[in-house]
Amino acid sequence: MPERTSAKNLSKMDRDRLDHLYEHLQKISPRTIGYPCNQAWDYSELFRFLEFSINNVGDPYEGSNYRLNTHEFECEVLDKFSDYTKADKSDFWGYVTTGGTEGNMYGLYLARELYPQGVVYFSEDTHYSVAKILRLQHTRNIMLKSQENGEMDYDDLRESVRLNRDAPPIVFANIGTTMKGAVDNLDKIREVMREFVIPNYYIHCDAALSGMILPFLDNPPPWTFADGADSISISGHKMIGGPLPCGLALARKQYVDRVARSVEYVGVLDTTITGSRSAFAPLMLWYALRTLKDEGLENNAKHSLAMARYAVARFNEKGVPAWRNTNSVTVVFPHPAKSVMEKWVVAPNRGIGHLVALPHMNEALIDSFIDDYCEARSDEPVDERRIPGSKDPRRGSTSNAGLI
Ligand SMILES: Cc1ncc(COP(=O)(O)O)c(C=O)c1O
Repeated sequence: MPERTSAKNLSKMDRDRLDHLYEHLQKISPRTIGYPCNQAWDYSELFRFLEFSINNVGDPYEGSNYRLNTHEFECEVLDKFSDYTKADKSDFWGYVTTGGTEGNMYGLYLARELYPQGVVYFSEDTHYSVAKILRLQHTRNIMLKSQENGEMDYDDLRESVRLNRDAPPIVFANIGTTMKGAVDNLDKIREVMREFVIPNYYIHCDAALSGMILPFLDNPPPWTFADGADSISISGHKMIGGPLPCGLALARKQYVDRVARSVEYVGVLDTTITGSRSAFAPLMLWYALRTLKDEGLENNAKHSLAMARYAVARFNEKGVPAWRNTNSVTVVFPHPAKSVMEKWVVAPNRGIGHLVALPHMNEALIDSFIDDYCEARSDEPVDERRIPGSKDPRRGSTSNAGLI
């Protein structure tokens, strides 16, 4: 007889392990403040769809022989994101990915197919996965210096493009860097292209977290298709939040048509990077967009920014040189003491730590973290050379533009 998974077959020991895991997650999830994962969500209405072996294999727009899918919902999600990213609807395409990394890989893949001899320019503050993607894709690339606030050093971009004028530039722009929430300016990038009269270039925007904040602000920096992006990656589990990592790869359709291949076995157009894809993640995003609506998403963005402002003010009152970039919910401070790292889930990097203010956070949570941080700080000496804004011999003099 074939068997199926069943709770009644679970040993006492295995059941205890699951219980322990559950308790552990319950305990640390409220103290997870250093990673961009909104925890204010409830998808219980969707649990019944976990009864089915659903799968969104293939191009969401083209139909599939595998009819247990949520392509229709996925297309509605994409349509909404075409609005947020100011796309030309007649030249727009996208799909729901496993996360921000896949969206970045997709953008760089399209760029490489378009310009096989192209050179990718990305700043040293770019997410660590991008160097790996470039290795995988065997694409020529140059890492640029960053300014102290985490934004690309445009002088370094200009000089690097000048030295490689024979190769089409593929610029990987951070729309909110991982550690400092800095936004690379598309106008300045395009200015460099104009200066050297470069007709063929490509801009990919990594808007992992900020892609669901900037659409709801009054004066966002340039980052959309209307501002010159050729492809954009946004994470779904970050600002929107949810239990499944997911994201969106968005691109100009004319570039996607160049890589499309038809596959008879599944009756789909093979435009995506992975074959089988989650059908639950698009449903989750659809549910979030339908229940929060634009007003809810705007409230969440504004609440998060208010919490970030609050955190900077509280840190500064206590003499800690914390800061954040304009429009960013990422609050940067000197590396926390070991005891703080043990109690709280904080992401450290090159002498700094950060707190990512998100919809589920409130003043009490931030106060509690800052109290622990300051208490531990008075116990352990801080290496002043590693504090952002203080003289750091490794970085030379850079502009502080955009710092708050
Ligand atoms: C700026 C940036 N890009 C890309 C990623 C990778 O996204 P994901 O973890 O969704 O693959 C992250 C993750 O934190 C990020 O901060």
